[in-house]
Amino acid sequence: MVQQTSEWIRVAAFSDVPVGEAKAIKFGEGRSIALFNVDGRVYATDNQCPHMGYPLTRGAVRHGILTCDWHGRSFDLEGGGCFKYECDNLQTFPVDVRHGEIWIQMGSAHYERRDEHLRLLSEGLLSKDRWTISKAIALLLKARVPEEDIVEMILRHLGRRIASAQGDEVDGGADVSRLINGLKVGRRYRDADRLMTLATTASSVAGGAAERLEVVPLPGNVAWESIDQWTRMFSHDGQAGRIERCLFTARHLNYQNKVLPLLYECAVEPHFIGFADNMLSLGYLAELVDTFGWERSSELVFNLGAKLIGRHRGEPERFRRDAVELMSSMAPSIAALQFSSNNVVEYDEDAFADALVGVNIQRSFEAVNAVLKEGVTLDRLITTLVLLAADRMARTPVNVDAGWDALTTELNLAASLRTAQRHGGDLVAAKGLFHAAWLIFSNRWINIPARSLSVSIGGGRLDVHNEDAAVDMILNSTPTVKV
Ligand code: FES
Repeated sequence: MVQQTSEWIRVAAFSDVPVGEAKAIKFGEGRSIALFNVDGRVYATDNQCPHMGYPLTRGAVRHGILTCDWHGRSFDLEGGGCFKYECDNLQTFPVDVRHGEIWIQMGSAHYERRDEHLRLLSEGLLSKDRWTISKAIALLLKARVPEEDIVEMILRHLGRRIASAQGDEVDGGADVSRLINGLKVGRRYRDADRLMTLATTASSVAGGAAERLEVVPLPGNVAWESIDQWTRMFSHDGQAGRIERCLFTARHLNYQNKVLPLLYECAVEPHFIGFADNMLSLGYLAELVDTFGWERSSELVFNLGAKLIGRHRGEPERFRRDAVELMSSMAPSIAALQFSSNNVVEYDEDAFADALVGVNIQRSFEAVNAVLKEGVTLDRLITTLVLLAADRMARTPVNVDAGWDALTTELNLAASLRTAQRHGGDLVAAKGLFHAAWLIFSNRWINIPARSLSVSIGGGRLDVHNEDAAVDMILNSTPTVKV
């Protein structure tokens, strides 16, 4: 039993560690101390090898040198110095044997390598070296560096990587989702499992990033109305860089809470029909702001947000051009609608779903327009779209490559409409329905026949009220995620 007085801690009886042997002592949260009895003198060290964490009690001691049994790194048993210069030193502790009991002094160890290990993490992220990333995170966590500091570095790296990415292709939304979802999953675990999820999350967003000039706000006291108008204009003209500067100016002038609604409003314009990742990525960015606040996430949100709504759209092909024109013609009447979340309007869900999968974009958009005008609540309509997308996935074999990705996007886009409604408002969500309807139309090649949504596959029904509750139910009923 470990006993503690001031900084000295009793860890074992002297007789517990016979001459020539080693013993591991569990200490605190998942920590292990190694005791070695060398010719009657006791040494104490951290039991995790600084290289990759192998238990050092399984190593060999010769002439005062402890050699790890895995990759052979060797350490001065007394001072902890590693003989390979690029390897971290081993933490050692002063030992006192009193009245047949072994005491060690824990408090004397100071963590002096925080900056060095943060630099190691930064190098690992840049070089995409999973081993370096894992090691740096393990060392930082072990030294009780707050997890938020580690996550902040990963977040900043991702921001810099996205900001310095070249080319017309707007990428980054998937990385943001991996970061957000990886952290969410990680919170379900502790200790070594938590370390693993954090390292996996960090590795999934690693990659080259270049320094870039700092974006500074526009000078003067620019009115919000101007920022709003300029952003919409630059979005229409595909000028991402100018939008980014507008957004930095907005934050500088304390208008940051208006930024996400504005980004969403631009993203659901008819000319963005066919760019499903706009709304998906904005949803991930909104989660980022919710999780980390503006202070830590603004750089990434402004850069990626500007790239999304300021992208070049190219010449639309015939079907997309028709869809853009059709939605544009309906836009004024949609903008005039009064939305209510309390309306109790019966509607024929199966007829609506049938129109969406009917391979006719005119019929599909007219159906969306009609249910909105009838006053069916947005919540109800989003639920229909989520159910429809989930049903289409459920009826597609997992091993059919063609189609599975497209259906995943359908489902994500449908579910993201709730986030769009929360951050962008009712009109954004209503316009988002057209974008979701377009996606179903453009996936017509997958050719899944319509069927009634009210008849559940397998006969069972889940008693849940929204997607979050359903996800929780699935996770809690899956033993493998509860390691
Ligand atoms: S884990 Fe000890 S040398 Fe690699």
